[in-house]
Amino acid sequence: MNIVLVGMQWGDEGKGKIIDILSAKADYIVRYQGGNNAGHTVVVQNKEYIFHLMPSGILHKDKICCIGNGVVIDPAVLLKEINDLQKCGLHIGKRLKISTLAHVILPYHRILDQLRETKRTQKIGTTGRGIGPCYADKINRCGIRMVDLLNPGVLRQKLRDNLNEKNEIFKKVYGNPGFSFEKIYKEYLGYGREFGSSICDTAMLLNEAHRRRKEVLFEGAQGTFLDIDFGTYPFVTSSSTTAGGACIGSGISPVHIDKVIGVVKAYTTRVGEGPFPTEFSSRFGKIVRERGSEFGATTGRPRRCGWFDAVMARASVILNGISELAITKMDVLDGMPTIKVCTAYIYKGKRFTAFPHDFEVIKNAKPIYKEFSGWDKRPYKPSSYRELHPHAKDYLSFLKDHLRAKITMVSVGSSRQDTILL
Ligand code: IMP
Repeated sequence: MNIVLVGMQWGDEGKGKIIDILSAKADYIVRYQGGNNAGHTVVVQNKEYIFHLMPSGILHKDKICCIGNGVVIDPAVLLKEINDLQKCGLHIGKRLKISTLAHVILPYHRILDQLRETKRTQKIGTTGRGIGPCYADKINRCGIRMVDLLNPGVLRQKLRDNLNEKNEIFKKVYGNPGFSFEKIYKEYLGYGREFGSSICDTAMLLNEAHRRRKEVLFEGAQGTFLDIDFGTYPFVTSSSTTAGGACIGSGISPVHIDKVIGVVKAYTTRVGEGPFPTEFSSRFGKIVRERGSEFGATTGRPRRCGWFDAVMARASVILNGISELAITKMDVLDGMPTIKVCTAYIYKGKRFTAFPHDFEVIKNAKPIYKEFSGWDKRPYKPSSYRELHPHAKDYLSFLKDHLRAKITMVSVGSSRQDTILL
């Protein structure tokens, strides 16, 4: 079975842990979009691993992990990630495959990302990793791909063309001295040598795996509302985070996708700027942030926290074709007297049950809440649905009915074993 796993909110839903669990059954695990703006955390035997580019399935020893054509790769970051994992005793060897067609993040992408953000009056809250500028070059047809790092002549010509134009922009628009051709050229040819044996046609590899009835897990990064089309634009990332992105970003046809699983937190968080209708007051937000360790895995920034937004989550189910839900961080709600779920918004007297696209509406919409009785922390970690507090079950039951998808996993802690499988 080929499964796509997506985040249903603004990222940080706890996908790393769910991917790790599902990876046990998959043969191939594929990242298909985004770059090292992502941070997937997996805790195994009290050891925490944070993945930025490497598919988190690499922790399972016999799995093949692919970085698909839809990903943008900062080779220095990937190299460090590989070295760090190897230092932890993990053998990667030939298990990592990198698409020839994946675009490469260059130093000018990173700097441009940061310079642009400082100039914006309305900041996006970018992670500053060069993701947006790299995707922009891809669409502008001047990007440099992994395959180009293997061909000195092609790399030379593409890099020269890029620097001719970009150095002018850096100087004239941003008052920045620009970049030296020789330094980047040498460095990136080095990455080509470093990754050479892993760079291949991952689309054909995955299609061949599918033909041999191997199972593929597509590991989504970020979340539905950071999608370049369907997210809260312009406060989004620059890739297709929704399930459709799995096909474009890997070369697997939509007819071969069997199921989409959505990962959603029992409340909502957002890192970076942009509208957030159910956001808590700063005092309550601080309490939940500390309790849920809501700090960015990539940048360490504090995450904004709020109540579960069922308007967003229902839209996610529809946009992604989600049939199964993994609800994460249920334990963070333990001990709260009342739990709220936003079921609609109201703006200028008009009620919205579908996610509005007008920025003014979404920015100023007031949430309409349904309230649930809270539950106390159980004296032991529940290991089955039966062991959950009855009020927690009421909450989950409402989410299942409202979102019209079945709940197959509930996470009540950060370790693999703190997961209730239904
Ligand atoms: P960028 O993709 O780094 O340019 O960031 C654009 C927006 O997406 C910012 O608001 C980031 O905070 C947010 N973002 C990007 N990647 C992630 C992620 O993995 N989790 C949560 N938010 C993210």
